[in-house]
Amino acid sequence: MSDIILCKTPKIKETPLILGIESSCDETAAAVIRGRKILSDEIISSASVQAQYGGVVPEIASRAHTDAVDEVVSRALHSAKVKKEELDAVAVTYGAGLLGALLVGLSFAKGFAFGLGVPLIGVNHIRGHLAAAYLEEETLEPPFVTLLASGGHTALLYTKTETEFELLGGTLDDAAGEAFDKVARVLSLPYPGGPHLEALAKEGKPTIPLPKMLKGEGGYNFSYSGLKTAVINYVHHAKQSGAPFSAADVACSFQHAALDILVEKTVEAAREKHADTVTAGGGVIANEFLRETLAGACRKAGLKLVLPEKRRCTDNAAMIAAEGLIRYHAGLFSPLSLNAEAYIPLKTS
Ligand code: KG4
Ligand code: ZN
Repeated sequence: MSDIILCKTPKIKETPLILGIESSCDETAAAVIRGRKILSDEIISSASVQAQYGGVVPEIASRAHTDAVDEVVSRALHSAKVKKEELDAVAVTYGAGLLGALLVGLSFAKGFAFGLGVPLIGVNHIRGHLAAAYLEEETLEPPFVTLLASGGHTALLYTKTETEFELLGGTLDDAAGEAFDKVARVLSLPYPGGPHLEALAKEGKPTIPLPKMLKGEGGYNFSYSGLKTAVINYVHHAKQSGAPFSAADVACSFQHAALDILVEKTVEAAREKHADTVTAGGGVIANEFLRETLAGACRKAGLKLVLPEKRRCTDNAAMIAAEGLIRYHAGLFSPLSLNAEAYIPLKTS
């Protein structure tokens, strides 16, 4: 396919109407924003089906997206009270994620944009998570320090402009969300593990000694494999020896060890970069213990904290539309040849 941009260069509006579409994993989502204002934010999830298999089965995800994409876009337009002809652009996740799943949303978006004669904007899913904070505050502008914690990434970034950031540090092994999911599995909690582990942790106390990542160790890098292995070994040992143990205390101790370090390093990074604002994004940021601890630490350090609403930390299409808005204003439109990509490195610009 040739590199045809789907429409003529559009007249750039200050507050365009953008449809966002997301289908990288098990949520089929569509949202409409006008400027930074969210008009609708719809999700059809196959998570309950996937839960029966203990994780996401790619083929089931692709089929579920195919069944849901038309319906979820119709719902998003309907609840936004806009006609499709009023849209100024269509933003869609093209990666990273499950290829078959991504292709469903991407193909739909291409057809939709082409039919309407509006630009297509391919969005990197992770950049969508980073952009979610802009929806929270109309006037939020970089520079700021951003904590990213999702199922695939844990990183600290210095966001210089809406399109450029500096990577301060990242995970050396597992991502925070991945560690939550693996520890949840060993505690026999259902998929997706993070929210179930958080709920169980509320009933426990942080009484179990677990290895802590040292503050200065690795600069702004993180490592979760040692902590994850320690928890898994603790549970296996207790089960094998028949010793009673409290799953709630394990969950609570793990949660403290996994999240305290994120808060400490985020505040440290903001100090070092002389930033007065902190933002965050990704599924783990939905964790209430993390939100409260981070809010307390930022308050103490005199930092302003802008957190996306909980439902906009996990996968959603409003964040894809938000990143679409940034790219729309930067004139970064995508050609018809845009392909889905399973892996996209965390780009610095
Ligand atoms: O950002 P996200 O929805 O998908 C990715 O792009 O990866 O993140 C999903 C991850 C999963 O690992 C999930 O267990 C974790 O975020 N997660 C949580 C919570 N909600 C979702 N982890 C801890 N506490 C939560 N409340
Ligand atoms: Zn995500």
